[in-house]
Amino acid sequence: MEEKKILYSAIQPTNNLTIGNYLGAIKNWLGLQNDYECYFAIANMHAITVRQNPAELRQKTLSLLALYLACGLDAEKCCLYIQSHVPAHAELCWVLNTITYVGEMSRMTQFKDKSARHAENVNMGLMDYPVLMAADILLYQADYVPVGEDQRQHLEIARDIARRFNTVYSPTFKEPEGLFMKVGAKINDLQDPSKKMSKSAENPNGSIFLSDGKDEIIRKFRRAVTDSEAEVRYDPEAKPGVSNLLSIYSLFSGKSIEEAEREFAGRGYGEFKLAVGEAVAAKLEPVQREQQRLIADKDYLNGLLKRNAERAAFKAERTLGKVYKKIGFYQI
Ligand code: TYM
Repeated sequence: MEEKKILYSAIQPTNNLTIGNYLGAIKNWLGLQNDYECYFAIANMHAITVRQNPAELRQKTLSLLALYLACGLDAEKCCLYIQSHVPAHAELCWVLNTITYVGEMSRMTQFKDKSARHAENVNMGLMDYPVLMAADILLYQADYVPVGEDQRQHLEIARDIARRFNTVYSPTFKEPEGLFMKVGAKINDLQDPSKKMSKSAENPNGSIFLSDGKDEIIRKFRRAVTDSEAEVRYDPEAKPGVSNLLSIYSLFSGKSIEEAEREFAGRGYGEFKLAVGEAVAAKLEPVQREQQRLIADKDYLNGLLKRNAERAAFKAERTLGKVYKKIGFYQI
């Protein structure tokens, strides 16, 4: 039997997840879980590069695991685990730090953005973020990394780091490839469609959170910025607001963009926005219910985390062992 290719991705358990996280990442994973050996982590070590409230971080970590399951990730097929439960992540990160240059890290877009937003806390971890992410991916010898568009640069660096290590020592890491959705890799802010929808947006009306109730969802879509025409047509350059809504509608309703355009031909934006809100709410309601049910079953979640931490660690330690050998760490 042919061995399955390996898929790796992760989400930080910070703030409230948005439909951007769902459409750009989780929804993509759902379609891939049957065909790949999948590892999906909860990146709590990345989360602390920005100051977190410890009690909240703990609670959001479990809540993200429940969300993974509630969205339809199958615990039998995917290894869902918490990053800090596998010490090899921090260990490999240290080694990779020694072949990564300060200059290239200081030029990363996300580092520059976050340093500007958190000027009081530009810590070493924030700068090292992409190296930890490279360690995550390379430890599992991932072939593919399904992420949203905003992670493209981090993925490029992970590939550079892999290539550099393989050249300096000898072939050790697979060079991972990013997998981006054609529609959905970049869901934009409802209030400012030139920006990506973000968990940490200043204006909460621009983001639909996965925890939002139906009324809230419909209210936010009703207020979404569009344009002065009245034509529901996909044209991201000329009509960024409407095109973003069309992408969201298409992904939540399962209809193609063309079908959606036909459905709303000759109808106003008001009706269109209401339909988008209803499609999103209809999908999120059962997910929210299932997530709450799972959060209450802490024994089940803890059992799963323990088994998966062991499984992930087994795989990760094999790679780390090879790395330690190649770089000359004395082993007994
Ligand atoms: P995070 O937690 O910021 O985002 C999680 C995933 O959601 C995607 N995403 C979006 N996709 C489409 N439209 C949007 N508006 C949108 N906003 C977010 C992100 O691209 C991402 O796929 N660094 C990662 C977490 C991470 C990771 C990894 C990912 C840590 N280690 C290893 C892959 C492999 C992050 O911050 O994701």
